Amino acid sequence: MDKLKVMTIFGTRPEAIKMAPLVKELESRPEIESCCCVTAQHRQMLDTVLDIFKLEPQFDLDVMEDRQTLSTITSKCLLGLEKVFQQVRPDLVLVHGDTSTTFAGALAAFYQQIAVGHVEAGLRTWDRYSPFPEEMNRSMVGRLAELHFCPTQANRRNLEAEGVTKGLFVTGNTVIDALRTTVREDFTFAQDGLNTLDYDGKRVILVTCHRRENYGRPMEDIMSALAHIARTHPSAELIYPVHLSPVVQECARRHLDGIGNVRLIAPLDVEEMHNLMARSYLVMTDSGGLQEEAPALGKPVLVLRRETERPEAVQAGTVELAGVEYERIVELADELLADPDAYAKMARAINPYGDGGACRRIADGILYHFGRRAAPPEEFESC
Ligand code: UD1
Ligand code: UDP
Repeated sequence: MDKLKVMTIFGTRPEAIKMAPLVKELESRPEIESCCCVTAQHRQMLDTVLDIFKLEPQFDLDVMEDRQTLSTITSKCLLGLEKVFQQVRPDLVLVHGDTSTTFAGALAAFYQQIAVGHVEAGLRTWDRYSPFPEEMNRSMVGRLAELHFCPTQANRRNLEAEGVTKGLFVTGNTVIDALRTTVREDFTFAQDGLNTLDYDGKRVILVTCHRRENYGRPMEDIMSALAHIARTHPSAELIYPVHLSPVVQECARRHLDGIGNVRLIAPLDVEEMHNLMARSYLVMTDSGGLQEEAPALGKPVLVLRRETERPEAVQAGTVELAGVEYERIVELADELLADPDAYAKMARAINPYGDGGACRRIADGILYHFGRRAAPPEEFESC
């Protein structure tokens, strides 16, 4: 029997981190011919992930330009992928999550009548403008895809509520698979300042912020709140690897440059990021991926957004939705820095997002769907 041709498509940092272990898993399966195409919607932030996981994509569309609009990214990806699909004719295209690359990848495959599998399917806030444009991207991919690899049972229920009843698999999130390969007690950081930092004496607050719906007033408020927290808690050390978006760079530097206990640094590579998170006291972020990783490492998270599509850790009590208003962000950070009981309640390691077996289940699910395996994979149950 011919091998199944499976093509993975990704373009941004988080997609690459979450698809890398899956590419490795697909490459290890004798029934599958794995092929990888990056759009390079991100360039530098993608390339560091490719280096760390030693991935060498067969196709690279190299679409990134500074401050691109959503329409430009989507149309460049659509046109580029059309050519790639005509050349390769995969049996299945796998896209991940909710970026412009994800939507364009699914749509381009659909136009060629190629089956689409959606990894990290079924996350919803039910607000079409928040996160923007991600909520609509993932909803549209939910319509285009034939296979839906849901991280959690709640994600599966979201799709069922939209009438999706076939091709559903609950697998856990592949980011937890990635996390198992990156965090090490004896890890050495490239920047010596991160090796010599007193992680027991100082309370390290790891910060990231980049979402488009936070541009403008919300991001201004978030940055002012961070500045206030740093100034009023000299024992804290804020470490903020700033996203390369010029909008974010400008805002972060205007509010936080020159404050003694704030370190604005370049984006970290994924191993550095995971190991820094493992040593931190608290995470403050609007990132999706960090909301999944920090609970697995037992780190409390204040989410700098109005909503989240990842309610599991909020329900478990280790993640709190802080919102985007100055007063509330300051109040919650103050509490976690001053009240050991409040901190202890949130600092518990939980794994609602995965057990490290997501990639195996996804590969098994693909083989089952194409009749190359008798039974579907067992479902991931939150642990
Ligand atoms: C994108 C995704 C978002 C995801 C985020 C992860 C969309 C619509 N948004 O948002 O869902 O959470 O990636 O980080 O797909 N830049 C560089 N170098 C890089 C990466 C970005 O210079 O390696 C700069 C460029 O000027 C680029 C800008 O950042 O135009 C914004 O990048 P873009 O991919 O448009 O959006 P993100 O905000 O990164
Ligand atoms: N990350 C990283 N270096 C950084 C910041 C984030 O490697 O400087 C990782 C992080 O650990 C997570 C992913 O990038 O795995 C999240 O990406 P991002 O926050 O850009 O996007 P989102 O998850 O919000 O879509």
